[in-house]
Amino acid sequence: MTQTALLETHMFPCLSDNYGFLIHDPIHKITAAIDTPEVTAIQNALEEKNWSLTHIINTHHHYDHAGGNLELKDITDCRIIGPEADQSRIPGIDQTIAHEEEFQFGEHKVKAFHTPGHTLGHMVYHFEEQRLAFVGDTLFAMGCGRLFEGTPEQMWSSLNIIKGWPEKTQLFWEGSLKEPQNKCGPHLTLLKGGLRRRSYFALMNTLKLTLNLRLQ
Ligand SMILES: [Fe+2]
Repeated sequence: MTQTALLETHMFPCLSDNYGFLIHDPIHKITAAIDTPEVTAIQNALEEKNWSLTHIINTHHHYDHAGGNLELKDITDCRIIGPEADQSRIPGIDQTIAHEEEFQFGEHKVKAFHTPGHTLGHMVYHFEEQRLAFVGDTLFAMGCGRLFEGTPEQMWSSLNIIKGWPEKTQLFWEGSLKEPQNKCGPHLTLLKGGLRRRSYFALMNTLKLTLNLRLQ
């Protein structure tokens, strides 16, 4: 668990090799699950922390991200926030968020960014003041999420949104528990480190972007 300006984050394993995240504002006593990959794992994490779920913030509609929405809403009556572009595909959604829209989570300002590529409606959430962000399946330690719906160009633009954030921003992505480095700045992730850098470049090369769009 980390605590930054009274915003606590809690990360826990779920499914076979994914992460789940809770964020908690102790002043307002509110807690959000970032996506709902696995109801039991989320409930256990809430119990461990003695937090009550008040919000779900979805990055995208995939079942391993929004599949637990309705069950958790039924149990807790929590409020579900998610991408405007995906509102028809996010179960139980109460509040839609558009690109670059800001909303409050207790004391904290959250800015949402539309990052199409992995899916067309994918959204990432940046807590600018705390320098942390939840990037769903847009970015992983070893590259970006699979292009199920978007184009390489869309994914490239989305990655550049993340790359444009301050260097020491902590990124929390939801895939691959096998990759040990789960928190690091976008520049560190994309530009530093031998294998990571080579792997990332190889992946970007498979996207067949024109040369001037490749990461330099
Ligand atoms: Fe996904």
